[in-house]
Amino acid sequence: MTADNSENGSGAVQANISPNEASVLKFLLDNKGAWIREDQIHIDGIGLRELASSVSWLESKGLIDVNRTEISTFQLTEEGRRFLTEGLPEERAYYLILSRKHVAVPDLMKELGETDGKIALAQLAKLGIKPRNGVLSADGAPLLDDEFRKRKSFLNSLAAGSGDMPADMINHFRKRENVIQERKRISRSLRINESGVKAVSASVSTGNLLGEITPDIIASARWKTSGFQPYDLNSRVEKILGSGVHPITYLSRMVKEIFLELGFSEMPGHYIEYAAWNMDALFIPQDHPARDMQDTFYLDTEGKPEMEHPEIMDVLSRVHEKGIRGYNGWGYRWSRDKASQLLLRTHTTVSTIRYLYEHPEPPQAVFSVEKVFRHESVDWKHLAELNQIEGAYYGKDASLASLKWLMREFYSRLGFTDLKFIPSYYPYTEPSMDVVGTINGKEMELGGSGVFRPEVTKPLGLKVPVIAWGLGLERLAMIYFGLSDIREIYQSDLDWLRTYRLRV
Ligand code: PHE
Repeated sequence: MTADNSENGSGAVQANISPNEASVLKFLLDNKGAWIREDQIHIDGIGLRELASSVSWLESKGLIDVNRTEISTFQLTEEGRRFLTEGLPEERAYYLILSRKHVAVPDLMKELGETDGKIALAQLAKLGIKPRNGVLSADGAPLLDDEFRKRKSFLNSLAAGSGDMPADMINHFRKRENVIQERKRISRSLRINESGVKAVSASVSTGNLLGEITPDIIASARWKTSGFQPYDLNSRVEKILGSGVHPITYLSRMVKEIFLELGFSEMPGHYIEYAAWNMDALFIPQDHPARDMQDTFYLDTEGKPEMEHPEIMDVLSRVHEKGIRGYNGWGYRWSRDKASQLLLRTHTTVSTIRYLYEHPEPPQAVFSVEKVFRHESVDWKHLAELNQIEGAYYGKDASLASLKWLMREFYSRLGFTDLKFIPSYYPYTEPSMDVVGTINGKEMELGGSGVFRPEVTKPLGLKVPVIAWGLGLERLAMIYFGLSDIREIYQSDLDWLRTYRLRV
């Protein structure tokens, strides 16, 4: 309780009322002390933020009564917006039936697609149109033009953020999955109370105390004659949501810190690489499916920069065609043109192999957390642009055992101990091992790892074993932040970002 709340009845100066607060009080007084919703208060020179803050101050000073009610607002989801442009599935189905007289269910599915087809069937059934023997018929179908018009005009007004919100439409779309999204917010109503009335007359009779210092106050020297408002350190203030780092940035920094603590150094890399480094140097055969346009983004080769380390081309040609001592190679005709293609790197193992070629003296311990690109269809656990946690240790004591230790150590420093290692295959490692974690009871592949094959290390002049790994940062984020869909990370949903707003 602050001194302001005391009512000593002596007409003492209510010292802590700012000019904005005084204006709000006067507005409420002019409103004859009746309840008024905050969004109906309009005072010149006081914006929404200032008003909200003044109201909070006045409430904490006990000069107004505040009543809070929860109100719902609705927004269209992405699907809702699509319905608005393409038409509602049930509407499209209905007019299809009217124009063709009879439509078999499988044909409807073909016309509308599985998802919309199912929605259309369910909605039409509610409107009295049901398939008989697998066929939807226009005979006896009710007139639905008005209903569809109503539904669409509702969606339209949601899109425009205005207009009628008929309760029956709200109910209807609330029951349908994923067309509209409800957001609740608190609406405040206020009225001036007795202490407030006194405060107004006190501030009128004593003149406003100075709050903010303006050029005018200095020029007119009013500061010499007027008192200043004291600070009230006990008052509540509005919560300010400042900026913070994105969850992925936060996690990436944490991962980098762990590898630094483990004695690794960060290695550089390039988004654009030669296939020679991204694939051939890693002994990926030139007919490997991952090299397909389906999986890899290639660049126009015009204006190609000169390749660094062109000498490796001859080395790669020999390894791929003939192999090395004791190892056979792929035995095909290796194409220099294919190796000369430019691409967006599909994994950061390209940085590792390049780094080791440039630093062939063991030991080396390097890592990076960087973006890679894949021509991939996006779904709940796949992205086309993602970050990989890459790393390698090159030393005479590198082994599968040390790799397993390192993986366990790394994930346990993030709090994950529930890991499994399963045998896997990569053209450049033998043995290869995938790391699997658990998310919501489901197992999730976190990435690959292994010991580089001699066909990779020997031709590039590496003398001792290399263990290497490439782990998904976003997959880790799913576990770390408890997400069931990887796309949520990049949806920029402010509520989510605020929940995970982290300061580092
Ligand atoms: N580069 C592999 C990938 O993109 C992962 C990996 C890295 C596998 C290093 C083995 C060794 O999935």
